[in-house]
Amino acid sequence: MPAHLLWLSSMHLSSYFTFATAIAIFFSFETSPRDPHQNFVQCLYNYPNITNSISNVVYTQTNSSYSYVLDLTIQNRRFSNSSSKPLVIVTPLDVTQILATIICSQRHGLQIRTRSGGHDYEGLSYVAEVPFVLLDLSNLQQIAVDEESRTAWVQSGATLGELYYRISQKSKTLGFPAGVCASVGIGGHFSGGGYGLMMRKYGTAADNVIDAHIIDVNGNLLDRQAMGEDLFWAIRGGGGASFGVIVDWKVKLVPVPSTVTVFNVSRTLEENATEIIQKWQLVANKLDERIMIRVDISRVNSSQHGKLTIQASFVSLFLGGVEDLIPLMQNSLPELGLDRNDCKETSWIGSAVFINAVLIGTSGNEPPETMLNRTQIYLGKGKGKSDYVSQPIPVEGLQGLWRLLYDAKVENFQLQFAPYGGRMYEISESEISFPHRSGYIYHIHYGVIWQEEGDEIAQRHMNFIRKVYKYMEPYVSNSPRAAYVNYRDLDIGVNNNGYTSYTQAKIWGLKYFNNNFKRLARVKTKVDPDNFFRNEQSIPTLSIEEN
Ligand SMILES: Cc1cc2nc3c(=O)[nH]c(=O)nc-3n(C[C@H](O)[C@H](O)[C@H](O)COP(=O)(O)OP(=O)(O)OC[C@H]3O[C@@H](n4cnc5c(N)ncnc54)[C@H](O)[C@@H]3O)c2cc1C
Ligand SMILES: *[C@@H]1O[C@H](CO)[C@@H](O)[C@H](O)[C@H]1NC(C)=O
Ligand SMILES: *[C@@H]1O[C@H](CO)[C@@H](O)[C@H](O)[C@H]1NC(C)=O
Ligand SMILES: *[C@@H]1O[C@H](CO)[C@@H](O)[C@H](O)[C@H]1NC(C)=O
Ligand SMILES: *[C@@H]1O[C@H](CO)[C@@H](O)[C@H](O)[C@H]1NC(C)=O
Ligand SMILES: *[C@@H]1O[C@H](CO)[C@@H](O)[C@H](O)[C@H]1NC(C)=O
Ligand SMILES: *[C@@H]1O[C@H](CO)[C@@H](O)[C@H](O)[C@H]1NC(C)=O
Ligand SMILES: *[C@@H]1O[C@H](CO)[C@@H](O)[C@H](O)[C@H]1NC(C)=O
Repeated sequence: MPAHLLWLSSMHLSSYFTFATAIAIFFSFETSPRDPHQNFVQCLYNYPNITNSISNVVYTQTNSSYSYVLDLTIQNRRFSNSSSKPLVIVTPLDVTQILATIICSQRHGLQIRTRSGGHDYEGLSYVAEVPFVLLDLSNLQQIAVDEESRTAWVQSGATLGELYYRISQKSKTLGFPAGVCASVGIGGHFSGGGYGLMMRKYGTAADNVIDAHIIDVNGNLLDRQAMGEDLFWAIRGGGGASFGVIVDWKVKLVPVPSTVTVFNVSRTLEENATEIIQKWQLVANKLDERIMIRVDISRVNSSQHGKLTIQASFVSLFLGGVEDLIPLMQNSLPELGLDRNDCKETSWIGSAVFINAVLIGTSGNEPPETMLNRTQIYLGKGKGKSDYVSQPIPVEGLQGLWRLLYDAKVENFQLQFAPYGGRMYEISESEISFPHRSGYIYHIHYGVIWQEEGDEIAQRHMNFIRKVYKYMEPYVSNSPRAAYVNYRDLDIGVNNNGYTSYTQAKIWGLKYFNNNFKRLARVKTKVDPDNFFRNEQSIPTLSIEEN
């Protein structure tokens, strides 16, 4: 039996949970003068039939390792000094510890924030204004690749880099279409959609999920069949945090050639960047599905001209060799002037190393093992936003954007244009809960990063990214102005204390989920009617009139 099944089958679930819940209710009647979090910890310690000793994975604020464990995957340093810290951190080793955390939190009036890789742009996986428990899944990192059936089971606390590496250890001709950053966690990424440079060929990560295990608000462990198609639909794009805790995912691996080609070619305004981007807007979504060319735009000091300029980096993965790539580029985007020497032929895992290197600023020649490195790359404090583009931005629009970037009083601001087309157009809006499909030429990611301390500096950076977002309004999708939930942005609207009516939540909900928002709210109402799993942008429950 595969390891992941062994690990689950050691429990006989349905009878067990009824019993466990009964015991938990019993414990809640103990008379005790302690704080809620002490009662919570006691509830965990007394919880019946926990497989591993739970006291080894419980950190209260007085534990000397508390800060270390909390900081380990705070990927956005904007939230490092937050005063809204968890009362208790639990780093479960198995599902019994997760379910005990869910049940005991409810008994003792604490909320839960679930963290897998900690990359949430607004820190929602580890910051809350209410008394809460941090359920950190970073110990759940198992990955079981079955090359024969071309599937893998991957636990939520694993990273994208680990998944890619494990696949490459089993096969040189299998891959998985997900994000570019190796340290991103599976749990948040898959549940919000998840995409990288194979999106045009194979869609999002969530499109390739075929099963999952979730623990719901009652402590039930459910696979796809047991959770039903509605909930399984919801956790593929709707974000996981509103519905329960997803333990692991079964994915379909995809075929990749043994040799692929990557490039990262930059052009400044003096080198016709504007013209190339104009042409790119007309062709990028129509190219052969095997190629995806992302454009990374930022202000730089031009080495040739010794002054500020705008630089566009064309970052690309082609699922084939350079011999096929060069004529393809000459036909479709000759303006870029791509040369054979700009290209690097490599294995699929080599391409993942390269594309991650473009992001984190390393050379791209590191060995595949670099994908396993969980050591935090110091990215500093950040703020991100997103948009979708349906019509090419006219040249005046681009030039106005360049002027804004020239005048920016921030150093590290970047836009990324990621083209759609191919598989993304073939999947309907309602197939899974991730909605953004046909009709878009490309997706925009805005990001600003800074290192300095202080509110004023933070405000300057946040104001700048908001100014650019405001400037872009006429050029991007509207009614709703679509946004990507994995690039979480609290500027577009927040729930009031987690309790917001569906009608109020539509302000941000339609942007993330468009026509899928109502169905997400229906699923939420069914699986978590009392709204235990909530945060600033969790899916609301529906009132009787709204349903
Ligand atoms: C440097 C960087 C690069 C990125 N690159 C890409 C990219 O190339 N493509 C792309 O699509 N996105 C990208 N992202 C965005 C990324 O996909 C999201 O931030 C994603 O949600 C991160 O998942 P996580 O597990 O690391 O985050 P977390 O902060 O742990 O979680 C994010 C959200 O999901 C919830 N959640 C996490 N795990 C679970 C679970 N097991 N069950 C239920 N709910 C859960 C959390 O509570 C939180 O609400 C990037 C982000 C960063 C910071
Ligand atoms: C819990 O563990 C005890 C002791 O091992 C065992 O007797 C009991 O059957 C278990 N309960 C369930 C529901 O599995
Ligand atoms: C802190 O937690 C660790 C791991 O759970 C445990 O080994 C240690 O004894 C705890 N320390 C304190 C001071 O409670
Ligand atoms: C935030 O934390 C950093 C280091 O962790 C510290 O140097 C800095 O002074 C803190 N800033 C504030 C505003 O507390
Ligand atoms: C820019 O475009 C012009 C006109 O198309 C062309 O003559 C020139 O060589 C290009 N410059 C670069 C650096 O590619
Ligand atoms: C450009 O150069 C100036 C002066 O050398 C420096 O202060 C600034 O940080 C540089 N800007 C960028 C975007 O590299
Ligand atoms: C990608 O191009 C940019 C701009 O020229 C450069 O700074 C960076 O080092 C390159 N990264 C890789 C991995 O090639
Ligand atoms: C992992 O990454 C960190 C941060 O970039 C680096 O300092 C460290 O050397 C890397 N470790 C290995 C084993 O590559």
